[in-house]
Parts: sequence; C-alpha cells; structure tokens
Amino acid sequence: MGGRGRIGREVLRALSAKGARVRSLVRTPSPGSLLPHVQEVPGDLADRASLQRALSGVDAAFFVTPHHADEEALGRSFVEAALAAGVRRLVFASAYHADVRSSLGYALFAAAVGFVTHYGPKLRVEGLVRRSGASPVVLMPSNFFQNDELFLNELRAGRYPQPLGLRGANRVDCRDIGDAAARALLDLELASGAYPLVGPDPALTGPECADVWAQALGRAVAYDGDLDRWRALVADRMPSRERDDFGKTYGLFSRVRVAAKPAELARTTALLGRPPRAYRDYVAELAARLEPA
Ligand SMILES: NC(=O)c1ccc[n+]([C@@H]2O[C@H](COP(=O)([O-])OP(=O)(O)OC[C@H]3O[C@@H](n4cnc5c(N)ncnc54)[C@H](OP(=O)(O)O)[C@@H]3O)[C@@H](O)[C@H]2O)c1
Repeated sequence: MGGRGRIGREVLRALSAKGARVRSLVRTPSPGSLLPHVQEVPGDLADRASLQRALSGVDAAFFVTPHHADEEALGRSFVEAALAAGVRRLVFASAYHADVRSSLGYALFAAAVGFVTHYGPKLRVEGLVRRSGASPVVLMPSNFFQNDELFLNELRAGRYPQPLGLRGANRVDCRDIGDAAARALLDLELASGAYPLVGPDPALTGPECADVWAQALGRAVAYDGDLDRWRALVADRMPSRERDDFGKTYGLFSRVRVAAKPAELARTTALLGRPPRAYRDYVAELAARLEPA
C-alpha cells in the first residue's frame, strides 16, 4: 500500500528487483507501464472491501498511514484486513522515535508522546501492528533526504528553505527504507520487532544541509529556515494536513536535537546488510542531475 509515495515507490523498486510478485494497492490504477512483477490493484484505505480483495492470498503486506484526519481509523482498517486475510508478515513504516522494546514500555511511551505531540494516531496504529501476532516488523525512519526534492527551484536559486533548525535531526535515504522494507517482506526469518532506520550522520542542522548543497552545486546556498516562510512556500505543494503535521515536526526540531545513537545506526546497518547511504552522496547525485537556474 502507498506504492506511489516516497517510501512506497522505493519498496516496489526493491521488491521488483528481487523478482518478488507484488500487488500494489492504488486508488487509481495507471494505464502506463509498471515495474516487472508488479500488478496494480484498485483500493482505498477507506474502503474495507477493496482492502480485503487486495490482500487475499498475500503472504506479506506493507503499509503506511496517510496524513489524514482519520489516520488512525484508516491504519486500523488495513491491519484488520491484513489479519483477516491471514498475512504471515505485516510491515508498517511508522516514524523515528525511541526504540522501546517491551509492550508495557511501548504503551506508556505511545500514550505520553501521543498526548504532547501530533504523533498519537501513527503511534496507536504502530501499537496495533506490534500486538498483531502477524510476525510484525515496524520500521522507524527518520527525516527523509528526499524531502529536499520539494525545493529544487529554491536550491537552484541558492536557497535552502527546509526548516531543520540549528539543533540537528537525523536524516535517512528513502531508498534505504525501501531496501529495508523489502528485506522484512521477503525474509520471514528476520526477527519481528521495531527497527530504527537512520542515516550515518547522527544529526544534520539546516545550515549543515545548506553547506552540503553549496559544495555539491559549487556555489553559495544560504539556509533560510523560517517556519512561516516554509509554510507559505509549501502551501500549494503539500496537502494541508501534511503541511500542518510537518510544521509541527519542524517546530519540534527547533527545540530538540534529534540525534541517532550508535546502536540505532548499527541496527540499521545490520538490517540493510551494509551502511545506510550518506546525505552528502545523495545530494551529490541529485545535484549532478539538476539543470542550472
Ligand atoms: N517525510 C518524512 O521525512 C517522514 C519521516 C518519517 C516518517 N514519515 C511517514 O512516512 C509515511 C509515508 O510517507 P510518504 O512520504 O511515503 O507518503 P506520500 O509520499 O505522501 O505517499 C502516501 C501514499 O499513500 C497513498 N494513500 C493516501 N491515502 C490513501 C488512501 N485513503 N487509500 C490508499 N492509499 C492512500 C497515496 O496514494 P495516492 O498516490 O493515491 O495519493 C500515496 O501513494 C507517512 O506516514 C509519513 O508521516 C515521513
């Protein structure tokens, strides 16, 4: 589920490359060409019957929850449909947070964090997945490198407007999330549990990201991390609910340093079977493809 999104398209790429037979649940199937071994099926998280049809006969299922007023109900519906279909493994891409292992610890953590932040619906869906009994794997990715791709015009003009703040946040490449999800879906021997997905730099500040871009483009790139200017900039690039949620996350980054611990990097590396990609390399690849302003 979510195969047209930033994470989901990387999950499809990784599964297709491994020759897995994949059903991709989409709201509107496309007439265009698809990846090898991928079949699109129509469905909507809000339409339970469509989920049941899409999940029938499926061994392992992957899903995300959209930024939506009904995020929790939509996620719950997917979990229930997957369990009713008898999937052997359920994989959910949640969000980066403390790696809490015990059931009681997680319940307390989710209640407390859900009370003070906007992450409540996602953490409650994650709780359902953890308790599901379907050999669950929860992926906990940090801030995506690919969020920068919303701002290619600004980057060409020498401005980095992603309000990552001055304290720093861990960031990860969506291709690594796709590779990790594919492993979880195909390797049923992989221990079920929650896996942080982090990049190799413990934390990157807004000015540090701007510097990486400046070096890759070979010209000045100034950090412009004003949250209100960011909100205005993304007004027509992001649905309003997603914009509100992201704005709150960036507000959090301005107050708290969100750095990955060495043990989290080790767990990501073990899951991938290699170190995760570095921000500097991602930016260099993307900058090489960017036309000048
Ligand atoms: N961006 C970050 O830095 C970050 C970091 C950590 C976690 N996350 C979380 O990662 C998750 C996925 O993010 P993403 O960037 O991959 O999302 P995305 O690019 O917005 O993609 C969401 C996907 O879900 C599909 N979808 C939405 N509503 C649906 C519905 N009712 N029924 C069926 N499909 C539906 C969309 O399909 P359509 O193509 O039809 O719209 C799209 O394919 C989100 O929960 C986000 O909070 C994001």
